[in-house]
Amino acid sequence: MAGLLLNQKVFVSLVLLVGLFLRCNGGVTSSYRRKLAGTVDMPLDADVFRVPPGYNAPQQVHITQGDLTGSAVIVSWVTPDEPGSSKVHYGKDENKLDHTAKGILTKYSYYNYTSGYIHHCLLKDLEYDTLYYYEVGKKESARQFWFKTPPKVGPDVPYTFGLIGDLGQTFDSNITLSHFESNPTAGALLFVGDLSYADNYPFHDNVRWDTWGRFTERTAAYKPFIWTTGNHEIDFAPELGEKEPFKPFTHRYPTPYLDSGSTAPFWYSIKRASAHIIVLASYSAYGKYTPQYNWLLEELPKVNRSETPWLIVLLHSPWYNSYNYHYMEGETMRVQFEYLMVQYKVDVVFAGHVHAYERTHRISNIAYNITNGQCSPVPDKNAPVYITIGDGGNIEGLASNMTEPQPSYSAFREASFGHAIFDIKNRTHAYYTWHRNQDGNAVSADTMWFTNRYYYPTNDST
Ligand SMILES: [Fe+2]
Repeated sequence: MAGLLLNQKVFVSLVLLVGLFLRCNGGVTSSYRRKLAGTVDMPLDADVFRVPPGYNAPQQVHITQGDLTGSAVIVSWVTPDEPGSSKVHYGKDENKLDHTAKGILTKYSYYNYTSGYIHHCLLKDLEYDTLYYYEVGKKESARQFWFKTPPKVGPDVPYTFGLIGDLGQTFDSNITLSHFESNPTAGALLFVGDLSYADNYPFHDNVRWDTWGRFTERTAAYKPFIWTTGNHEIDFAPELGEKEPFKPFTHRYPTPYLDSGSTAPFWYSIKRASAHIIVLASYSAYGKYTPQYNWLLEELPKVNRSETPWLIVLLHSPWYNSYNYHYMEGETMRVQFEYLMVQYKVDVVFAGHVHAYERTHRISNIAYNITNGQCSPVPDKNAPVYITIGDGGNIEGLASNMTEPQPSYSAFREASFGHAIFDIKNRTHAYYTWHRNQDGNAVSADTMWFTNRYYYPTNDST
């Protein structure tokens, strides 16, 4: 009897010890304290929303990659008063714009709103790694901008990407965008969904799509934004007679989806410098046999790591998220696609949606088969790091409530607004930094040296 009691005591002690270990085995929950008060959208007369001077002057100018490899750019803008010209004049000398491309014109209505004249113009056959100047609009209302094309795709081409998600148009959004602009090394911005938050307004007031376009122009006219769709792009409102999902987004923000064999603008891929970037759509069908599923299965074998060593995936609703917000919303997509991320050695998966920051270790949870009980994430050298970067600063405020204890797969989490930088050095190394808004430009609140999953798969996340 005494022996049995002793065994029970030992057992209880062991359970407590294991429990303590598991509690301590999670990563870092930052103790940084920031304001948690809600934030408001900037007023319509804020200077960031200013309409450019001149009759019918182009506004909301933004660019994105226009083909598979970065030798094309799509320029988009809105003219408010009349159609005007859909032409873009461009060239390498700002005083001699000796090339012209003609774009297309579109517009749309949404409930009681009618858009301006939306122009999209493809500039193709551009030289790589070259500064181009471009001009849109006519005569005294013409406006000039510039962009730099990426270097030709290649395995050791250094390139720096910025990352922002869930931006919105609050005073905090403005700080995030300014903070990103103050880190000028990024050549392109990977945007992980939820743009304007216009749908938070009565009748999805699409005027807030226009203000968002004017607010972001100061960056988006110069650096290509690579778009991912979030739930705030769906704009599905049958009660308003609006039954076409993604209507404002698709009219305003084109993607080069046809060049990667996609059949819809919401999932596609691009190559840029030494990265192959796959954009997935959390709010388009992804079950087996759906167009997105079939496309991804055809796309992944095409990734050539000898050409683009870095394989990056963007999506909106995170698969690993230890905040008490949107908990497990990404679970069905994780179950559908996670094994592919491991099989094809994806380096990193960026998501938004949760208005906070989190980075995981390299883990996978793909062994479960309904009956074997193997349903916990385990360390996996072939798995991506999952990063939630939905902390752009929108009107819905911060997600500050976290599940406790911190799961062992979670390496670092903090409820602050900010942006990130993914700086590819060569085929083996990339330096990743996260910058919270309250810090100065040189401060990184979270960092990680990534080693490439194909060329140098070290234990880099721990
Ligand atoms: Fe979202």
